[in-house]
Amino acid sequence: MEAMITVEEALRTRRSVRAFRDTPVPRGLVARILTTAARAPSGSNIQPWRVYATTGAAKRALSRDLMDAHAAGDPGEEEYAYYPTEWREPYLARRRKVGWDLYGALGIQRGDKDAMTRQLARNYLFFDAPVGLMFTIDRRLEVGSWLDYGMFLQSVMLAARGFGLDTCSQQAFAKYHRIIRRHLAIPDDEVLICGMALGHAEPAAVENRFDTERMPVSEFVRFTQDPDWS
Ligand SMILES: Cc1cc2nc3c(=O)[nH]c(=O)nc-3n(C[C@H](O)[C@H](O)[C@H](O)COP(=O)(O)O)c2cc1C
Repeated sequence: MEAMITVEEALRTRRSVRAFRDTPVPRGLVARILTTAARAPSGSNIQPWRVYATTGAAKRALSRDLMDAHAAGDPGEEEYAYYPTEWREPYLARRRKVGWDLYGALGIQRGDKDAMTRQLARNYLFFDAPVGLMFTIDRRLEVGSWLDYGMFLQSVMLAARGFGLDTCSQQAFAKYHRIIRRHLAIPDDEVLICGMALGHAEPAAVENRFDTERMPVSEFVRFTQDPDWS
């Protein structure tokens, strides 16, 4: 299966998919996506990524334990700070908007904590995707390697698009790293960065039918004056 999609199309059509079909994804295709993504650059080519890929019964057993922890209100334990402790503008407004757009698409009313908790729980089922990926990094590596890691993650998502597949990055797993370590035999010297659902999107699902906004280029780029650009 060859990719018939331009880089621009892959970038434009990548979105966080939160409802998948149960169509299986062959192991060979997962390996091909990860092989392609591993062409990502990294400082001194140290390639800081480690991936644990799961499907079938092993994935279901993992999801069961994660769902139980979530239902029991287990707060888990974050090994790294993904977000600031104090939210400020303009980030707060953006965060709220994407949250309300998702809940709005699902018909969840503001303040309906039970419905929000149920939606959050869907993370732990990988949104029903047939493949779950977990991404870890050697904890002795520095912030520069986390920069490399982001390039790898985006490469996984774009490579998946090239094969007609969709993804959702999932930081929601990080706090349950102890449970995930046990299931996937992840050594203690690795930090669980995030997980990722991988599979065929269910296009009809409402949670896949809202668009996220981006700043226009004029808001985040400053071009120097140059006659060539006038
Ligand atoms: C590293 C990372 C972790 C994320 N974690 C979650 C998550 O746990 N659950 C979720 O539903 N979405 C998660 N997202 C998806 C973001 O909400 C999403 O990327 C953002 O709203 C932009 O939407 P888009 O990906 O559809 O363009 C994550 C995204 C990234 C990059």
